Amino acid sequence: MNNLIEDIDIVTQQEKEAEACETVKVSENSNSGKERKLYIESYGCQMNFSDSEIVSSIMAKNGFDTTSNFEEADVVFLNTCSIREKAEQTVRNRLAQFNNVKKKKPDMMIGVLGCMAERLKSKLLEEERIVDLVVGPDAYRDLPALVKQVDDGQKAVNTFLSREETYADINPVRLNSNGVTAFISIMRGCDNMCSFCVVPFTRGRERSRDPHSIVREAQELFNNGYREVTLLGQNVDSYKWSPEQNNKARLEKTEVSHIVNFASLLEMVAQVDPDLRVRFSTSHPKDITNEVLHTINRYENICNYIHLPAQSGNSRILQLMNRTYTREWYINRVDAIRSIIGEDCGISSDMITGFCSETEKEHQDTLSLMDYVKYDFSYMFFYSERPGTLAEKKYEDDIPLEVKKRRLSEVIAKQQAHSLERNKRDVGKVHKVLIEGSSKRSDQHLQGRNSANKVVVFPRKSYSKGQYVHVRIEDCSAATLFGKTID
Ligand code: SAH
Ligand code: SF4
Ligand code: F3S
Repeated sequence: MNNLIEDIDIVTQQEKEAEACETVKVSENSNSGKERKLYIESYGCQMNFSDSEIVSSIMAKNGFDTTSNFEEADVVFLNTCSIREKAEQTVRNRLAQFNNVKKKKPDMMIGVLGCMAERLKSKLLEEERIVDLVVGPDAYRDLPALVKQVDDGQKAVNTFLSREETYADINPVRLNSNGVTAFISIMRGCDNMCSFCVVPFTRGRERSRDPHSIVREAQELFNNGYREVTLLGQNVDSYKWSPEQNNKARLEKTEVSHIVNFASLLEMVAQVDPDLRVRFSTSHPKDITNEVLHTINRYENICNYIHLPAQSGNSRILQLMNRTYTREWYINRVDAIRSIIGEDCGISSDMITGFCSETEKEHQDTLSLMDYVKYDFSYMFFYSERPGTLAEKKYEDDIPLEVKKRRLSEVIAKQQAHSLERNKRDVGKVHKVLIEGSSKRSDQHLQGRNSANKVVVFPRKSYSKGQYVHVRIEDCSAATLFGKTID
């Protein structure tokens, strides 16, 4: 999300530049004089990064400041991802490094949180003998008790998955924040069963968060100077909340009395303030409605950008993937975006190459779908079989690694060409840009994003982050637009 920014094995060059490859996020120093120090390192998607902010908040209430240096930490948490084998391997390597530090500092507590904790449960304690604590994504409220258990000399595990937990009442501590853009989780879990995907097993059943608490969080962010929120969920289009269904065990009475779907939630958040930009991720092609597209159109501050992962351009493969749409259905949704919002709406995708039994011709269908859509960018992966998934049980992982990788390189090359082509369309046009901070390459330049989520770089002058400016685009690469502000 924005997309899911995971253990990106392979991303387009533009994403490397745009996100500086945010594959790992590390906590910063917060020195409010608390007794102990927490170091938290996060892998995987934006939802995981957002969870680390909830974890930091829970730990702050229990006597922990955060630190950016794990060697000075009393507690080290790795918030992990299981999406591909490589993601788990990265965490294992990291645990081996922590092991060396722990030899010199035996009191340092090491915890594994997130999706890998959920997938492997107490096996992690046995496999990785240095791990003291294993906590799944729905059990973070239990962290203070679990830390105490480890303090008392025991190992601690809680991988209980909830049907209700949304952490709605917890005020996240913003980590690695630029003070301008923030993520808000609007739902948890996933009820789709894409056959390649481990998420339904690691994150549990889908549940939507109280819209009132979402709007309140957006309002607080705005009051604190933030100017953009991204609403996060594995499948935001299936967001659904009603007082009858969801208000059973709420801490507060909600002000909402009707069923809220994703379109109405978007509208509620857009109404917080016209100067608060709203983004969202991820949209599922089977669920995205014209109502959502029309809502985007009605509000200037809802960004014209949709992350709509296709995964494959071939209907037989999509069926094996259990994506529940065909190539034709997908194309129909793209046509709807182009006709309702317009040609300039940013569209991005996730693609998997070399899924079980994919033929060369079926791979060509992915390339031809890309030619049809002309994505602004994509996250692209070769298929990695995951234990316990439907595909692992039902299909043979029969495409040789070299073939998977060659197909992936063809997909990446095509995306590069399309990204450049799409960016060239912007040269000569004026874009409204929200300034996020200094350009990564030069202090004399600032950078921000336009509505379509493209990075725009321009001379600093006396502008500062959090401001909106209008920039006339003069040049571009596949990753970035370059221009000058106009008054
Ligand atoms: N909920 C989002 C995506 C979640 S995971 C959606 O439905 O689109 C992010 C991306 O990781 C997926 O879109 C997919 O492209 C990729 N992915 C998931 N499982 C994978 C696997 N087993 N091998 C390779 N890529 C995978
Ligand atoms: Fe995984 Fe599919 Fe759910 Fe996305 S929609 S998280 S790919 S199961
Ligand atoms: Fe996200 Fe990875 Fe879990 S992509 S939901 S952290 S498996």
